[in-house]
Amino acid sequence: MLELNPTDAIVVLTGAGISKESGLDTFRDADGLWSKVNIEDVATPEAYARDPVRVLDFYNHRRRGMANPNIQPNAAHVALARLEREWPGQVLVVTQNIDDLHERGGSVNLLHMHGEILKVRCGRTDEVFDWREDCTPMSRNPTTNEAGTLRPHVVWFGEMPLFMEEIQTALSRCALFVSVGTSGNVYPAAGFVDEAKRSAGAYALELNLEPSMGAGLFDEARRGPATEIVPAFVDEVLAGTV
Ligand code: APR
Repeated sequence: MLELNPTDAIVVLTGAGISKESGLDTFRDADGLWSKVNIEDVATPEAYARDPVRVLDFYNHRRRGMANPNIQPNAAHVALARLEREWPGQVLVVTQNIDDLHERGGSVNLLHMHGEILKVRCGRTDEVFDWREDCTPMSRNPTTNEAGTLRPHVVWFGEMPLFMEEIQTALSRCALFVSVGTSGNVYPAAGFVDEAKRSAGAYALELNLEPSMGAGLFDEARRGPATEIVPAFVDEVLAGTV
């Protein structure tokens, strides 16, 4: 049973499952992205070096998809933003997702550890730019005006995720670690539950449609669609009955 004090910090890790009911594909469900395209062809530095146009097109397609007016934050995104606003202790959302649905749902204290689809980065200067159109080898760096240096600001397999120091600090201080909509297949995110328990003695709760790879590491699991179980969980935390 979890006893939370109002000053307790909460870390929430989210994955593609939280955006599924907004209409975005997950990666490893039966109809997921990796059932349609190989990671090695579109989501590694080697793929980009081998065929930059193919990689840029893969992310252009996903970026265009974000302009679809039917893709909106869902009740789970909105509930996590409410938790951040109304919980007196710190709430940090660490997302593996590259969509902007947490921001649009109202989250502010948010870290995109795998980058963001609506940003590009210059491979030469490392400068990051908001970017909503297609990115091609002809796209020009807005600062230097040079072409051919822009890539998706997305962390590929084999690259170091972002904000790891901030994340590790938050994990070492949290009383509650919640995982939402992730299969626990990809490290370092999949190791955060163990880190929170070992370094902070955190209570670990998994909110997921089905057991993740790391399900056995959690103190408690609630099964169901994120739009149902996340708002219910937030209501309980704010009512002091979790
Ligand atoms: N509500 C809650 N959970 C859901 C829902 C839903 N409506 N739909 C699916 N899920 C769960 C699935 O059961 C699965 O456990 O979400 C999880 C999605 O897992 P993945 O597709 O593996 O996505 P994720 O865990 O975010 O992948 C991690 O892998 O490919 C890389 O960089 C990519 O960030 C991604 C990382």
